[in-house]
Amino acid sequence: MKLDGKVALVTGSSGGIGQGIAIRLAKEGAKVVVNYRSNPQGAEETLNAIKATGGDCMMAEGFCDNDRGYSIGADLGMVDDVRKLIDESIKHFGTLDILVNNAGIEKHADFWDVTEKDFEAVMNINFKGVFFATQSFVKHQISEGKRNGRIINISSVHEELPFPHFTAYCASKGALKMMTRNLSVELGALGITINNVAPGAIETPINKALLNDPSKLEPLLKNIPLGRLGQPEDVASVVTFLASDESRYITGSTIVVDGGLLWNYQEQ
Ligand code: BGC
Repeated sequence: MKLDGKVALVTGSSGGIGQGIAIRLAKEGAKVVVNYRSNPQGAEETLNAIKATGGDCMMAEGFCDNDRGYSIGADLGMVDDVRKLIDESIKHFGTLDILVNNAGIEKHADFWDVTEKDFEAVMNINFKGVFFATQSFVKHQISEGKRNGRIINISSVHEELPFPHFTAYCASKGALKMMTRNLSVELGALGITINNVAPGAIETPINKALLNDPSKLEPLLKNIPLGRLGQPEDVASVVTFLASDESRYITGSTIVVDGGLLWNYQEQ
């Protein structure tokens, strides 16, 4: 398997894209730390699916107690929590090879109504948390003399594409784009690669309102050349590639996973 012997942390993996990534990395042989903020039940689901990927799984009354997964509650918007999350992950599995910065939120509002609280919530989780999680991960790689660290940020097509009423969200994703480019240069000498995956419209809880409103969903589908929403697995397969040795010469890049949405411009 592609990730045998590796240990990965996937932030925000109690649902949606993060859950899909955590389970897929486990299927590829990695041990995986699951992280949640407000949905411990979702994290439990992810964890059970991870444990069930183990050939060594001892299912007793539906419970699997192998050590392929571990779950930690932490708010990515709080730097103390972020540092504890990385430390505890390393303590549990003894090391950390792959960091998937997935946790993210978005808030819909007209620009003139955005509150400081909502602005900070978005920027802290989507950018500040990623910055400091990455910093702790890099310190660990340095102190252990490790090479081949992998950092994968789940960004968005909105690191490029405007998304009216979501200006803080777009700014946070644009910040991730520049962080990745910058760190590809600074971390190259340490043998660490850093890349972004930029999903388009994926069917997950973050866009529940859109999914439940045909007047919004239908025009969106018309904008997607491949004619469907993405699934978490569509993103997870690219993350697996970036986490594996197959991607060893790629750093500072963004891989867009959007069914063609980003560059779809047509004159009527
Ligand atoms: C957002 C979704 C949106 C999609 C396509 C994602 O980054 O989280 O709400 O539907 O981009 O615009």
